[in-house]
Amino acid sequence: MKKEMPSWLESAIFYQIYPQSYNDTNGDGIGDIKGIHEKLDYIQQLGVNAIWINPCFESPFKDAGYDVSNYYKVAPRYGTNADLEELIKESNSRGIRVILDLVPGHTSMDHAWFQESQKAERNQYTDWYIWNDSVWADQEPGLNITRGYAERNASYIANFFYFQPALNYGFAHPDPDKPWQQPVSAPGPQAVIQEIKHIIAFWLERGASGFRVDMASSLVKRDPGKIETGKIWQDIRAWMSEHYPEAVLIAEWGVPAQALQSGFHVDMLLGGYHNPGLTSLFRKRGIGMHRDPYGWSFFDEAGHGDITQFVDEYTQQLEQTQALGYMGIITGNHDEHPRIADGKSMEMMKLVYLFLLTMPGTPFIYYGDEIGMTYVHGLASKEGGYERTGVRTPMQWQDSLNAGFSTGSPEKLYLPVSESYPAVNVANQLADPSSLFNTVRHLISIRKSHPALQAESAFSVVHAQAGELPFVYQRTRADETYLVALNPSRNEVHYTFKLEHNPKEISSLFAQNGAFRLVDNQMTLDLGLVSGLLVKLSS
Ligand code: GLC
Ligand code: CA
Repeated sequence: MKKEMPSWLESAIFYQIYPQSYNDTNGDGIGDIKGIHEKLDYIQQLGVNAIWINPCFESPFKDAGYDVSNYYKVAPRYGTNADLEELIKESNSRGIRVILDLVPGHTSMDHAWFQESQKAERNQYTDWYIWNDSVWADQEPGLNITRGYAERNASYIANFFYFQPALNYGFAHPDPDKPWQQPVSAPGPQAVIQEIKHIIAFWLERGASGFRVDMASSLVKRDPGKIETGKIWQDIRAWMSEHYPEAVLIAEWGVPAQALQSGFHVDMLLGGYHNPGLTSLFRKRGIGMHRDPYGWSFFDEAGHGDITQFVDEYTQQLEQTQALGYMGIITGNHDEHPRIADGKSMEMMKLVYLFLLTMPGTPFIYYGDEIGMTYVHGLASKEGGYERTGVRTPMQWQDSLNAGFSTGSPEKLYLPVSESYPAVNVANQLADPSSLFNTVRHLISIRKSHPALQAESAFSVVHAQAGELPFVYQRTRADETYLVALNPSRNEVHYTFKLEHNPKEISSLFAQNGAFRLVDNQMTLDLGLVSGLLVKLSS
């Protein structure tokens, strides 16, 4: 176990819930906290032991809640603070941790702090946001300046969309000719850091087990290598380890070595620019946000994918991070599009989960991905979603009005239900032993009962070659080795290799269209179409 790691993290499997689309209990068309509460039986049945809820705090919802106007108050459309506390309590009593979403980089323009900060007269919040010193000042390269909003004769810097003004954590190297660029040590940034700790403590005291941290690397401006931003998180982590040693900090950063050096316990692998190898697993072939018209996903029946893109990147990142914390492979999230099931058969999705649930680190399952929900095309943008809107549609519970998501009239729904719901829904899949849901559930239970498959145990590659299948790797702990073989292609493949020792015992934990043969020390994997194996060897 790593130093100062929350004890529960090694076996954690996260389930991400986008609250507006999960389950609506009062018929207003928007999911709510009570709706999550009502589905705890389902979540428990799936077997995940942690949930992450997207921001559920007061907000004008121009960016789906990533524009917070009060960090201490649950948004009325979702319920009350008491509802959230009850959800946390009930979840915890079932062995399910609750992670909230912390948005430290920016607030909504409606936040009282910003409304004070934009005033011409100096006040307590003047330096809580980044303002230059004249509306007529030039643009600042790399920063997003918005002119003319305030009575204050200055422009503010937005962190993401224009309505998300950046909180002031200072500049790594303030320009001496521009005194409005403050060092991190200035009173404004220091007050903001104190407030962030206060928010963290507030929700941890109410039972939360930690935070997913939005745009975690964005705090200090013009901070090459994120050195100064890292120092802030190191300080917050040290303070948390002292007061809340079982609480976790999970970064939306995308550069695991940097994030974990900075004190995060986990960084999520997001694909795209920083992790192109990850994109090459699931979402290549010119679809989705990380468009790459020249490549193929590894999990594609054509079998043209190149697993080495992922393996090279991942093993390097694993080496850089294994002494520090975990990486989180995600099936998707509220930003990634399309959904992971797009373009994949249910059989292929089962292989995806065989992979996800046997890899090191902490796996994240985005709501609906456990039943293979797909992207909904052609939706008008909702709450700043743009192309992301199609991965945010209501959870598909059953083949009835609104897919069982809400009793409200269909026009009132937060987003329309996907047309796929009569075929793809929870009720169907619960009833079918071979469904994706039941397979995911089975693989989760295997992971939970075999520590060698969890976050910490050794990972090594047995066979990963460009242009060749299968991909074979193993997880090892003490005298147990678990072999995983994946053949996503429509071709049969056979692979033979020599085991170092003849195992005392050998058993199959999971097999889809495949089998193994062991003759002396020679192991042969016979892999049919779209096939996978999980084999346990004890020495
Ligand atoms: C993160 C969130 C995304 C949001 C943005 C601004 O990337 O995941 O949904 O729009 O930050 O807060
Ligand atoms: Ca509701």
